[in-house]
Amino acid sequence: MKALALCCSPRKEGNTSKALSLLLEKLPADWQKEMINLHDFDIKACGELCNAECLREDVCKVDALNERVRLLEKLKSADVIVIGTPTYNTDIPSKLRTLLERGYLENYLKNKVVALLIVSNLGGVKALCTLTSSLILDAQAIIAGAVIVPGYREGGKTVNDSKTQMLIDYLAKRIIEVVNLMYYCQPC
Ligand SMILES: Cc1cc2nc3c(=O)[nH]c(=O)nc-3n(C[C@H](O)[C@H](O)[C@H](O)COP(=O)(O)O)c2cc1C
Repeated sequence: MKALALCCSPRKEGNTSKALSLLLEKLPADWQKEMINLHDFDIKACGELCNAECLREDVCKVDALNERVRLLEKLKSADVIVIGTPTYNTDIPSKLRTLLERGYLENYLKNKVVALLIVSNLGGVKALCTLTSSLILDAQAIIAGAVIVPGYREGGKTVNDSKTQMLIDYLAKRIIEVVNLMYYCQPC
């Protein structure tokens, strides 16, 4: 089983990345685990490199010109994807929105087990709605679970918070439960 964590915070050693590392640790030792950062991929917004030709031709011209497909192929290669994100101004950061906005997500994420780890004090539920609406309605992914853990200015504080640790335990257990059901047809 391969679990891939996508960290969507520009702070590569910040709260989101540390919370994702803890979650990966809680997944079974015999799983393959990897974390990548969204900010290592050059992904342009819809319309930034084209004139919305997709509206006529049903194909994204920009996909050939930047790294979105490289990232989506990487996600497709995993059995379980964990998206970890901070909230910026009460919603998901724009780079994550850019990834989701250009559509065609079902080609990569359909029926993938996806879990969400949102680092937020304010706007976490809105970020959750933004993410789940794209992932369910557009990507047709299977959402195993989602948690909203507290955010801090200081990198590293989130992971030491007892509420975070309890929620991450829950999310890890839920991921394992859904994987067992989906891949081995075994209820826990
Ligand atoms: C531009 C910007 C906007 C932010 N907006 C919010 C917000 O709306 N709600 C919130 O809870 N935290 C907000 N924060 C704080 C971070 O989300 C919070 O510190 C979180 O722990 C960041 O995770 P990180 O360490 O991975 O960057 C914002 C931070 C930045 C830089």
